[in-house]
Amino acid sequence: MAPEPYPEGRPVQVVAHRGASEDVPEHTLAAYRKAIEDGADALECDVRLTADGELVCVHDWRVNRTSNGRGAVSSMELADLAALDFGSWKGQSTDPEAPERFAGDRPGSGPDGRGEPSGSGEPSGSGGPSGGPGEHSRVLTLRRLLRLVAETDRRVELAVETKHPTRWAGQVEERLLELLAEFDLDRPAPGTPSQVRVMSFSARSLRRVHQASPGLPTVYLMQYVSPRYRDGRLPAGVGTAAPSMRIIRSHPDYVARLHRAGHQVHVWTVDRPEDVELCVRLGVDAIITNRPRRVLAQLGR
Ligand code: G3P
Ligand code: CA
Repeated sequence: MAPEPYPEGRPVQVVAHRGASEDVPEHTLAAYRKAIEDGADALECDVRLTADGELVCVHDWRVNRTSNGRGAVSSMELADLAALDFGSWKGQSTDPEAPERFAGDRPGSGPDGRGEPSGSGEPSGSGGPSGGPGEHSRVLTLRRLLRLVAETDRRVELAVETKHPTRWAGQVEERLLELLAEFDLDRPAPGTPSQVRVMSFSARSLRRVHQASPGLPTVYLMQYVSPRYRDGRLPAGVGTAAPSMRIIRSHPDYVARLHRAGHQVHVWTVDRPEDVELCVRLGVDAIITNRPRRVLAQLGR
């Protein structure tokens, strides 16, 4: 059966979670290029601060799961991270053919490897439009991701999640805003939709962003609904709610409550077709998914 057309006037945004991370190692430049090729409306990334003050796109506090290294991101410098392979784990764990696609694609081994960490904090070279060598396995800086977004010939939005912001007492947000300012993305003109939004499980982190740059949209991630926000209100300084799919499955009426309180609703992580269907039925504003191509196909786009 052909997918039902998308509800008129209420387009749901499809956000690629960690890039097209079902197909390509998460948080690599190749994962984001693939998401853009797939037609994603927006890209989600997690950012952490390195020991030398760079923001890198890594989800876990340690590099153990997604690289061939060991240790905390916060105790490593960008050069340490750039020496690691962030691609091979993916093929090894899911796809028997993937090690050939991702392994050996090591930092420094291909045309992309010429650019080791520099003062600009950007370890990558240019690569080809569909992802050259190195892009599947190199640590990605937020600056490089911002450049990809700027280079893309259609509008792609970016949802940046601050990880472990409390440990750094404002430094993550400060660095993030500095980088956004480099790309002229920190202060969207009043009345125009911002290309970037900042997400966090920490209301304090979002408050910091809101205070420093009030025009930048803030998105509050929820793993559960605290009693004080059950009626749809959110912490001060927060514009959008991002409840988990688990919350939406057990409390589908929460979407309407948030909407009534004037908040957009972005749901994560929505991979199962029945979850996509539920989100569309409830009229959520954004679906955050590891598989943007499949979700877009389900939506008939
Ligand atoms: O986009 C929200 C989602 O990414 C939050 O959870 O753990 O995947 O960062 P996590
Ligand atoms: Ca995230």
